[in-house]
Amino acid sequence: MSRVAYVNGLYVPHAEAAVHVEDRGYQFADGVYEVCEVRGGRMVDERRHMGRLQRSLRELRIAMPMSLHALGVVLRETIRRNRVRDGIVYLQVTRGVARRDHYFPSPDTPPSIVVTARASIPAKAPAPAISGAAVITVPDNRWDRVDIKTVGLLPNVLAKQAAKEAGAREAWFVRDGVVMEGGSTNAWIVTEAGTIVTRPAETGILRGITRTVLLEVANRLGLTVDERDFTLDEAFAAREAFISSASNVVVPIVSIDGKTIGDGKPGPIARSLRDSFYDVAEFARK
Ligand code: PDD
Repeated sequence: MSRVAYVNGLYVPHAEAAVHVEDRGYQFADGVYEVCEVRGGRMVDERRHMGRLQRSLRELRIAMPMSLHALGVVLRETIRRNRVRDGIVYLQVTRGVARRDHYFPSPDTPPSIVVTARASIPAKAPAPAISGAAVITVPDNRWDRVDIKTVGLLPNVLAKQAAKEAGAREAWFVRDGVVMEGGSTNAWIVTEAGTIVTRPAETGILRGITRTVLLEVANRLGLTVDERDFTLDEAFAAREAFISSASNVVVPIVSIDGKTIGDGKPGPIARSLRDSFYDVAEFARK
C-alpha cells in the first residue's frame, strides 16, 4: 500500500510530496510541529495536541492554516488514507513560502501545512518498555524557548545521534547539574522514598502532552508527585527513571551514562503509569 501525504490542500503520493525551496521551514526552521499517537485508528489526546499547536503558533505569530475543525478532518483523512491503526500522525505548519528574507513575509502569505501518518512496527515497539533502555547525558545547548515545539531541532538531532552511537535510546539535556528533558522525551525519576519527580514545564522544556496525562494518571493511582528540578546525581541514586512522549508513552530507563539505575530492571511505578495511561488519555473519534 502506498503512503499518502497532505501538502497545502492536496493529498499526494508520499514519494512526490514536496514543499517549495523557499519555504521558511526549510530556510529558517520557521515552523512548528506536533506528533500524535494513533491507536486503534484513533488519535490519542488530539484536543491537547491541538491546544499546544495553537500555543506554539501564537508564540511565533504564525496564523492557524485552517480552522481547528478542518485540521481535525485532514488529520483523520491522512490516517485513514494511510490505513494507520497503530502509529503516529505528524503535522507541521510553517510561516509559508516567500523570497528568502529574515523579516516576516507579507501578512497575506499563507502558512504551509504538511500532514503525514505512519504505522509503527508492532513487533519492535514493546521491547524497550519491557527490558528498559539506556540514556546518556549531554550539556543543554539549546535556546531558551524550547517550550515552543519548533522544527528547529538540531541540538536534539546531535544529542540523539550521540545517544545512538553510545548504544543508548535517548540523551538527557543537563543544565547546571539539573536534568532538563530528553532529545524528544520528558524525563522522570522515582526517589528512594517513592516520590515521582519531573521538572516543572513553565520554562526550559517542552510541556509534553504525555507528561500532562501521566501527572493525572499518577494522581488517580494515589502516587506522590513532586514537580521540581532534579539533579543528575539524584537521578543516579533514583529507584527508577523513565522517559515519556507520544510515541514512547513510558519507557523505563535502566542506565544513565553507563551507571545502573535501581536494580537495573524496569520498575513498578513506570510500569503502572504505562499500564494506566490509556485510562486517562482521550481517544478522538475516528
Ligand atoms: N517529541 N520533549 C521534547 C524535546 C520533545 O520533542 C517531545 C516530543 C517531548 C514529549 O512530548 P509529548 O509527550 O507531547 O510527545 C518532550 C515528539 C514525539 C517528536 O519529536 O517526535
